[in-house]
Amino acid sequence: MPERTPQLAANWKMHKTIEETEAFLAEFLPRAEEPGPEVVVCPPFPSLKTAVELCLQSRVRVAAQNMHEEAEGAFTGEVSAPMLLELGVRGVILGHSERRQYCDESDEALARKVPAALEAGLEPILCVGESEGQRDAGETEGILTRQIEVDLANVADERLGQVVIAYEPIWAIGTGRTATTDQAQEAIALIRRLIEARSSEAAGAIRILYGGSVKPGNAGELIAQPDVDGALVGGASLDPADFAAIVDAAR
Ligand code: PGA
Repeated sequence: MPERTPQLAANWKMHKTIEETEAFLAEFLPRAEEPGPEVVVCPPFPSLKTAVELCLQSRVRVAAQNMHEEAEGAFTGEVSAPMLLELGVRGVILGHSERRQYCDESDEALARKVPAALEAGLEPILCVGESEGQRDAGETEGILTRQIEVDLANVADERLGQVVIAYEPIWAIGTGRTATTDQAQEAIALIRRLIEARSSEAAGAIRILYGGSVKPGNAGELIAQPDVDGALVGGASLDPADFAAIVDAAR
Protein backbone atom coordinates (compact mmCIF):
# COMPACT_ATOMS: atom_id res chain seq x y z
CA MET A 1 0.00 0.00 0.00
CA PRO A 2 1.45 3.42 -0.85
CA GLU A 3 1.60 6.02 1.91
CA ARG A 4 -1.36 8.36 1.72
CA THR A 5 -0.87 11.91 3.02
CA PRO A 6 -3.76 12.69 5.37
CA GLN A 7 -5.95 15.64 4.48
CA LEU A 8 -7.82 17.91 6.88
CA ALA A 9 -10.38 20.12 5.21
CA ALA A 10 -12.33 22.96 6.84
CA ASN A 11 -15.86 23.27 5.48
CA TRP A 12 -16.99 26.69 6.65
CA LYS A 13 -20.40 26.35 4.98
CA MET A 14 -22.17 29.77 4.98
CA HIS A 15 -19.94 31.21 7.67
CA LYS A 16 -17.28 33.94 7.73
CA THR A 17 -17.19 37.29 5.95
CA ILE A 18 -13.96 38.50 4.33
CA GLU A 19 -13.05 40.24 7.59
CA GLU A 20 -13.69 37.07 9.58
CA THR A 21 -11.67 35.05 7.06
CA GLU A 22 -8.73 37.40 7.58
CA ALA A 23 -9.02 37.11 11.35
CA PHE A 24 -9.20 33.30 11.22
CA LEU A 25 -6.17 32.96 8.95
CA ALA A 26 -4.12 35.46 10.97
CA GLU A 27 -4.49 33.13 13.93
CA PHE A 28 -4.52 29.78 12.13
CA LEU A 29 -1.72 30.04 9.54
CA PRO A 30 1.17 30.38 12.03
CA ARG A 31 -0.12 27.18 13.66
CA ALA A 32 -0.25 25.25 10.39
CA GLU A 33 3.34 25.70 9.25
CA GLU A 34 4.76 22.40 10.43
CA PRO A 35 5.00 19.83 7.63
CA GLY A 36 2.62 16.90 7.81
CA PRO A 37 -0.97 16.51 6.71
CA GLU A 38 -2.46 18.51 3.84
CA VAL A 39 -4.61 21.35 5.09
CA VAL A 40 -7.45 22.83 3.06
CA VAL A 41 -9.84 25.65 3.93
CA CYS A 42 -13.14 25.98 2.08
CA PRO A 43 -14.65 29.44 2.58
CA PRO A 44 -17.81 30.77 0.91
CA PHE A 45 -17.31 32.25 -2.59
CA PRO A 46 -16.89 35.94 -1.57
CA SER A 47 -13.95 35.10 0.74
CA LEU A 48 -12.08 32.81 -1.66
CA LYS A 49 -9.78 35.45 -3.18
CA THR A 50 -8.78 36.83 0.21
CA ALA A 51 -8.13 33.32 1.51
CA VAL A 52 -6.01 32.42 -1.54
CA GLU A 53 -3.91 35.57 -1.16
CA LEU A 54 -3.38 35.07 2.56
CA CYS A 55 -2.49 31.38 2.14
CA LEU A 56 -0.05 31.96 -0.72
CA GLN A 57 3.08 31.72 1.45
CA SER A 58 1.70 28.88 3.57
CA ARG A 59 1.12 25.12 3.26
CA VAL A 60 -2.62 25.69 3.36
CA ARG A 61 -4.65 25.37 0.16
CA VAL A 62 -8.04 26.84 -0.60
CA ALA A 63 -11.04 25.00 -2.01
CA ALA A 64 -14.59 26.09 -2.86
CA GLN A 65 -17.81 24.48 -1.61
CA ASN A 66 -19.54 23.92 -4.94
CA MET A 67 -19.26 24.60 -8.69
CA HIS A 68 -21.33 24.14 -11.85
CA GLU A 69 -20.28 21.45 -14.32
CA GLU A 70 -20.27 23.77 -17.35
CA ALA A 71 -17.38 26.18 -17.95
CA GLU A 72 -19.80 29.03 -18.78
CA GLY A 73 -23.38 29.59 -19.81
CA ALA A 74 -26.82 30.82 -18.84
CA PHE A 75 -26.81 29.46 -15.27
CA THR A 76 -27.76 32.37 -13.03
CA GLY A 77 -26.08 32.29 -9.66
CA GLU A 78 -23.62 29.55 -10.56
CA VAL A 79 -19.80 29.55 -10.61
CA SER A 80 -17.58 27.42 -12.86
CA ALA A 81 -14.30 25.57 -12.43
CA PRO A 82 -12.28 27.96 -14.65
CA MET A 83 -13.54 30.89 -12.55
CA LEU A 84 -12.36 29.16 -9.37
CA LEU A 85 -9.01 28.27 -10.91
CA GLU A 86 -8.44 31.87 -11.95
CA LEU A 87 -8.76 32.85 -8.29
CA GLY A 88 -6.07 30.36 -7.31
CA VAL A 89 -8.52 27.90 -5.80
CA ARG A 90 -7.17 24.33 -5.87
CA GLY A 91 -10.15 22.15 -5.05
CA VAL A 92 -13.89 21.98 -4.58
CA ILE A 93 -16.30 20.19 -2.26
CA LEU A 94 -18.95 18.42 -4.33
CA GLY A 95 -22.14 16.67 -3.27
CA HIS A 96 -22.24 17.81 0.33
CA SER A 97 -25.39 16.39 1.94
CA GLU A 98 -26.70 19.91 2.63
CA ARG A 99 -26.56 20.63 -1.10
CA ARG A 100 -28.16 17.26 -1.84
CA GLN A 101 -30.92 18.03 0.68
CA TYR A 102 -31.59 21.76 0.15
CA CYS A 103 -30.41 22.39 -3.41
CA ASP A 104 -31.51 19.16 -5.11
CA GLU A 105 -27.92 18.20 -5.96
CA SER A 106 -28.32 14.82 -7.65
CA ASP A 107 -25.96 11.92 -8.22
CA GLU A 108 -26.50 12.49 -11.95
CA ALA A 109 -25.27 16.11 -11.65
CA LEU A 110 -22.30 14.89 -9.62
CA ALA A 111 -21.47 12.42 -12.37
CA ARG A 112 -20.86 15.51 -14.52
CA LYS A 113 -19.32 17.76 -11.87
CA VAL A 114 -16.60 15.42 -10.58
CA PRO A 115 -14.93 14.86 -13.99
CA ALA A 116 -15.41 18.56 -14.87
CA ALA A 117 -13.49 19.54 -11.73
CA LEU A 118 -10.68 17.07 -12.47
CA GLU A 119 -10.40 18.14 -16.10
CA ALA A 120 -10.14 21.78 -15.04
CA GLY A 121 -7.37 20.92 -12.57
CA LEU A 122 -9.37 21.17 -9.34
CA GLU A 123 -9.23 18.44 -6.70
CA PRO A 124 -12.79 17.29 -6.04
CA ILE A 125 -13.76 16.44 -2.46
CA LEU A 126 -16.81 14.26 -3.12
CA CYS A 127 -19.13 13.83 -0.14
CA VAL A 128 -21.20 10.68 0.31
CA GLY A 129 -23.14 9.28 3.25
CA GLU A 130 -26.37 7.78 4.47
CA SER A 131 -29.20 9.29 6.54
CA GLU A 132 -30.17 7.97 9.96
CA GLY A 133 -33.26 6.27 8.50
CA GLN A 134 -31.18 4.59 5.83
CA ARG A 135 -28.66 3.34 8.40
CA ASP A 136 -31.45 2.03 10.67
CA ALA A 137 -33.02 0.26 7.69
CA GLY A 138 -29.71 -1.44 6.91
CA GLU A 139 -29.32 0.50 3.66
CA THR A 140 -25.92 2.07 4.30
CA GLU A 141 -24.01 -0.25 2.00
CA GLY A 142 -26.52 0.14 -0.85
CA ILE A 143 -26.61 3.94 -0.56
CA LEU A 144 -22.82 4.27 -0.52
CA THR A 145 -22.49 1.83 -3.41
CA ARG A 146 -24.95 3.78 -5.54
CA GLN A 147 -23.38 7.16 -4.71
CA ILE A 148 -19.85 5.95 -5.49
CA GLU A 149 -20.90 4.16 -8.67
CA VAL A 150 -22.96 6.99 -10.13
CA ASP A 151 -20.97 10.02 -8.92
CA LEU A 152 -17.67 8.60 -10.22
CA ALA A 153 -19.08 6.90 -13.33
CA ASN A 154 -17.46 9.38 -15.73
CA VAL A 155 -14.06 9.50 -14.06
CA ALA A 156 -11.47 7.35 -15.84
CA ASP A 157 -9.98 4.58 -13.68
CA GLU A 158 -6.50 6.19 -14.00
CA ARG A 159 -7.81 9.43 -12.47
CA LEU A 160 -9.87 7.94 -9.63
CA GLY A 161 -6.93 8.23 -7.23
CA GLN A 162 -6.95 12.02 -7.70
CA VAL A 163 -10.41 12.34 -6.18
CA VAL A 164 -10.81 12.87 -2.44
CA ILE A 165 -13.91 11.26 -0.95
CA ALA A 166 -15.48 12.36 2.32
CA TYR A 167 -17.70 9.80 4.04
CA GLU A 168 -20.16 11.91 6.00
CA PRO A 169 -23.05 10.06 7.65
CA ILE A 170 -25.84 12.65 7.58
CA TRP A 171 -26.90 11.79 11.14
CA ALA A 172 -23.46 12.83 12.40
CA ILE A 173 -23.28 16.23 10.65
CA GLY A 174 -23.66 19.14 13.04
CA THR A 175 -25.34 16.91 15.62
CA GLY A 176 -22.45 16.24 17.98
CA ARG A 177 -23.11 12.54 17.32
CA THR A 178 -19.90 11.26 15.78
CA ALA A 179 -19.76 7.87 14.11
CA THR A 180 -17.84 5.40 16.23
CA THR A 181 -14.34 4.62 15.02
CA ASP A 182 -15.64 1.19 13.93
CA GLN A 183 -18.54 2.69 11.95
CA ALA A 184 -16.22 5.17 10.22
CA GLN A 185 -13.61 2.51 9.43
CA GLU A 186 -16.22 0.04 8.18
CA ALA A 187 -17.92 2.49 5.81
CA ILE A 188 -14.64 3.89 4.52
CA ALA A 189 -13.21 0.40 3.96
CA LEU A 190 -16.35 -0.40 1.96
CA ILE A 191 -15.81 2.72 -0.18
CA ARG A 192 -12.19 1.70 -0.74
CA ARG A 193 -13.32 -1.78 -1.86
CA LEU A 194 -15.73 -0.16 -4.33
CA ILE A 195 -12.82 1.84 -5.77
CA GLU A 196 -10.66 -1.28 -5.77
CA ALA A 197 -13.21 -3.06 -7.94
CA ARG A 198 -12.31 -0.51 -10.62
CA SER A 199 -8.59 0.00 -9.93
CA SER A 200 -6.39 -1.41 -7.19
CA GLU A 201 -3.86 1.34 -7.81
CA ALA A 202 -6.53 4.01 -7.28
CA ALA A 203 -7.76 2.23 -4.14
CA GLY A 204 -4.28 2.49 -2.66
CA ALA A 205 -3.89 6.14 -3.59
CA ILE A 206 -7.32 7.68 -3.00
CA ARG A 207 -7.82 9.66 0.21
CA ILE A 208 -11.09 8.92 1.99
CA LEU A 209 -11.91 11.33 4.81
CA TYR A 210 -14.43 11.04 7.62
CA GLY A 211 -16.79 13.94 8.33
CA GLY A 212 -19.48 14.50 10.95
CA SER A 213 -18.94 16.19 14.34
CA VAL A 214 -15.15 15.87 14.21
CA LYS A 215 -13.67 17.75 17.18
CA PRO A 216 -10.17 18.11 18.66
CA GLY A 217 -11.10 15.38 21.18
CA ASN A 218 -12.12 12.68 18.68
CA ALA A 219 -10.06 13.51 15.56
CA GLY A 220 -7.00 11.51 16.57
CA GLU A 221 -8.76 8.17 17.09
CA LEU A 222 -10.83 8.54 13.91
CA ILE A 223 -7.82 9.36 11.73
CA ALA A 224 -5.85 6.52 13.34
CA GLN A 225 -8.20 4.00 11.69
CA PRO A 226 -6.37 2.20 8.86
CA ASP A 227 -8.65 3.41 6.07
CA VAL A 228 -9.46 6.89 7.38
CA ASP A 229 -7.19 9.38 5.60
CA GLY A 230 -8.24 12.58 7.33
CA ALA A 231 -11.33 14.61 8.08
CA LEU A 232 -13.77 17.09 6.60
CA VAL A 233 -14.60 19.36 9.50
CA GLY A 234 -17.59 21.71 9.74
CA GLY A 235 -18.42 23.37 13.07
CA ALA A 236 -15.04 22.83 14.74
CA SER A 237 -13.21 24.32 11.74
CA LEU A 238 -14.69 27.75 12.42
CA ASP A 239 -12.42 28.19 15.41
CA PRO A 240 -8.72 28.53 14.51
CA ALA A 241 -7.50 26.91 17.72
CA ASP A 242 -9.87 23.94 17.35
CA PHE A 243 -9.02 23.37 13.68
CA ALA A 244 -5.28 23.68 14.47
CA ALA A 245 -5.73 21.07 17.21
CA ILE A 246 -7.47 18.75 14.72
CA VAL A 247 -4.61 19.19 12.24
CA ASP A 248 -2.14 18.40 15.05
CA ALA A 249 -4.13 15.25 15.90
CA ALA A 250 -3.40 13.96 12.38
CA ARG A 251 0.40 14.33 12.70
P1 PGA B 1 -19.75 19.09 11.28
O1 PGA B 1 -19.93 19.21 9.68
O2 PGA B 1 -18.28 18.87 11.53
O3 PGA B 1 -20.24 20.41 11.81
O4 PGA B 1 -20.56 17.93 11.72
C1 PGA B 1 -19.20 18.39 8.79
C2 PGA B 1 -19.60 18.71 7.37
O5 PGA B 1 -20.80 18.98 7.15
O6 PGA B 1 -18.76 18.71 6.46
